[in-house]
Amino acid sequence: MLIKYSNQPVPRSIATPPYSLCYTEYLKNNPKSTKSFGLWQDLCFMPQQTTTIPTIDFEKIRKDFPVLHQKVNGHPLVYLDNGASGQMPVQVADRIDLYHRYEHSNVHRGIHTLSQNATDAYELTRKNVQEFINASSHEEIVYTTGATDSINLVANTFGAANLREGDEVILSEMEHHANIVPWQMVAERTGAVIKVIPVTDSGDLDMDAYKDLLSNKTKIVAVIHVSNALGTVNPVKEITDLAHEAGAAVLIDGAQSVPHQKVDVQEIGCDFFVFSAHKMCGPTGFGILYGKKELLDAMPPYRGGGDMIDKVSFEETTYNVAPYRFEAGTPPISAGIGLGAAIDYLNSIGMENIETREQELVNYAVKRLSEIEGLRMIGESEHRASVCSFVFDHIHASDLGTILDKRGIAVRTGHHCAQPILRRFNVPATTRASISFYNTEEDIDRLIDGIHYAKTFFE
Ligand code: ALA
Repeated sequence: MLIKYSNQPVPRSIATPPYSLCYTEYLKNNPKSTKSFGLWQDLCFMPQQTTTIPTIDFEKIRKDFPVLHQKVNGHPLVYLDNGASGQMPVQVADRIDLYHRYEHSNVHRGIHTLSQNATDAYELTRKNVQEFINASSHEEIVYTTGATDSINLVANTFGAANLREGDEVILSEMEHHANIVPWQMVAERTGAVIKVIPVTDSGDLDMDAYKDLLSNKTKIVAVIHVSNALGTVNPVKEITDLAHEAGAAVLIDGAQSVPHQKVDVQEIGCDFFVFSAHKMCGPTGFGILYGKKELLDAMPPYRGGGDMIDKVSFEETTYNVAPYRFEAGTPPISAGIGLGAAIDYLNSIGMENIETREQELVNYAVKRLSEIEGLRMIGESEHRASVCSFVFDHIHASDLGTILDKRGIAVRTGHHCAQPILRRFNVPATTRASISFYNTEEDIDRLIDGIHYAKTFFE
């Protein structure tokens, strides 16, 4: 355990002089009081008179995740593939189960009570998300099926409406395919040109090169907040400020940042911010697009269908207001409610506590991994979250991943849907351990032992 806290309230008056003297003093000041010494003492120690030491018991928190307490291939599971998908605590699974058992009905359509209750529960998540990322209004929160869907939405609406031949979209060399391909597709249709911010040997964005790329041709800058392949935490506020000075709009892909740190979209100042529920203790199939209200209001609709309309006739159709204009058809209701529960869960721990805990685990993992002979880290930024990506010259990542799996250790191997950045480092694949707050130092130790075992196997 890295962090140990006591759960005991500490009475404020514990350091005062002997209580009987205090009681005598009290009686002098309150001569008509009928309180006995015992009652007076109880009142002094009532909860409002106590202060509490912060209580974060990560051993206890780990028990909320049943999936972690099983054997895989005969070994206790070590789950280090949180970058691909996070695990779900019982509190979130129970909330989704409750909805399916007792609350299920379609949303935004029914006059009956069940439908209205489902709508209220589903819409509550919009408010939860707004507060979680500090958007200025719940109308800035668009429900999507995930970060990928959110980026496609922006590329096909804002991008298609604003890009002209010769305009430039700036991406970075460390983008996930989800933040490359949609822009290439819209560039092909509009004649816009993709420019790429290079990455340094340490795995950081080359900010001087970024400044050189910016010009009055730049219309959109779309950059990942935390790299899923390298773990680098990018300076998104600075990136946004520089883009705005050049007159460009900014989209930040927060799929790998929102689960690991406190995100404040107003502080970053970006125009769009996207993330997925399943990487942050929530269910798959649900995600968020944050967009500044004036931009969402001006954007054309994306998918057509029910719920996104105002009036429909064969001659003319008018559309609903944002964010509903972008939400056609019956949505994944239980997943939306699940995201709300996931946010409640993360808030109950505190994002600052999660960040501190994960940073300690990542530092420990980097230290232990660097001690292994022949291991080369891919991505060595000083600003790193959750991810440790590495290679060996003589062991292929998928062989290593298979051997680790046989020992109950789940990591991701391959190109991590980020082929350009792997090409930048001249590697076809890496082994990636991605950490969450419910991991332990013992998990890292098991990973290190597994790598040593694989080395003896191959050498
Ligand atoms: N983007 C996810 C990952 O990095 C799937 O594994």
